[in-house]
Amino acid sequence: AETAAVNTNIVTLTRFLTEEQSKHKEATGDFTLLCHALQFSFKAISHYIRRATLVNLTGLAGQSNATGDDQKKLDVIGNDLFIAAMRSSGKCALLVSEEEEEIIYFKDQTGARYAVACDPIDGSSNLDAGVSVGTIFGVHKLAEGSTGTKEDILKPGTELLAAGFTMYGASAQLVITMRGGTVNGFTLDNSFGEFILTHPNMRIPKKRAIYSVNEGNSLYWEENTKEYFNSLKFPQDNGKPYSARYIGSMVADAYRTLLYGGIFAYPADKKSPKGKLRILYECAPMAMVFENAGGQAVDSKMRRMLEVVPEHIHDRSGIYLGSYDEVEKVKSFYKK
Ligand code: AHG
Ligand code: MN
Ligand code: MN
Ligand code: MN
Repeated sequence: AETAAVNTNIVTLTRFLTEEQSKHKEATGDFTLLCHALQFSFKAISHYIRRATLVNLTGLAGQSNATGDDQKKLDVIGNDLFIAAMRSSGKCALLVSEEEEEIIYFKDQTGARYAVACDPIDGSSNLDAGVSVGTIFGVHKLAEGSTGTKEDILKPGTELLAAGFTMYGASAQLVITMRGGTVNGFTLDNSFGEFILTHPNMRIPKKRAIYSVNEGNSLYWEENTKEYFNSLKFPQDNGKPYSARYIGSMVADAYRTLLYGGIFAYPADKKSPKGKLRILYECAPMAMVFENAGGQAVDSKMRRMLEVVPEHIHDRSGIYLGSYDEVEKVKSFYKK
């Protein structure tokens, strides 16, 4: 009888990173080791997220963070797990986290060449409802001769060495990209404890009639924002209106948009003149993933998101993120 087609040529993230490294003759292996620490942190966070309701890890931690968010217990645990993984990697010189007011410098890590920005738990307001949340990260390389200063992380997204996110949904889905590289998706196989390559070379559809925005902010929107979304809901050429999908976790909304196409937006508005999402650990990493998958990302002034330089580590920006043609449509409404 035919033996079941067992895939014996399994590409784990570990193998993928080894193969990537061999493409760069000058590689020291440091980035690979940093990525192993990153992937461990995703496995650990995934583990605690899934057990939260069983071990009383839901609910508030009773404190708030630098950006004014009420911290959930899992925000704090995710943050602590991530910091420990970065510190013990020996390859991270400094770390910016949504949950840390100041930059964390790992001064004892001599020879560490990387600066990392992270949102340990994105979408944490949804946590107690069991909705998908995620971790977003960006990796910068220190300037030559730098031992790690805030200038090494306050850079445009065009200088990111790597970026991505892990969404803790029905399974843990890791999406990662390198500067000028492709976007690759991995699924955590809990029996192996390995991320397995399941979505090689992800490309976002050029267009898709799906829009993802918190319409509860419509009262505060600028005129051109209103006009753009109305053009999707009440099409002039009596075409079909767009479908609305909004989860409220950027990672989940972004992952769906990356796979299905469409537009995700958190526009700057009268309530949040600088926007809500943070540049270093939400907007820039997502913008790099979407550009490398053939999409676009712009801020509320239609500037290329990857060219926006934050002044402070928790600076925010408006963002439109999605299919190439959909972002072109947004630009046409703002150019008027
Ligand atoms: P975080 O949980 O890391 O603070 O991020 C929350 C963000 C993002 O995940 C999501 O897109 C957005 O907040 C939702 O904001 P609204 O609830 O205002 O729509
Ligand atoms: Mn938060
Ligand atoms: Mn977030
Ligand atoms: Mn967060």
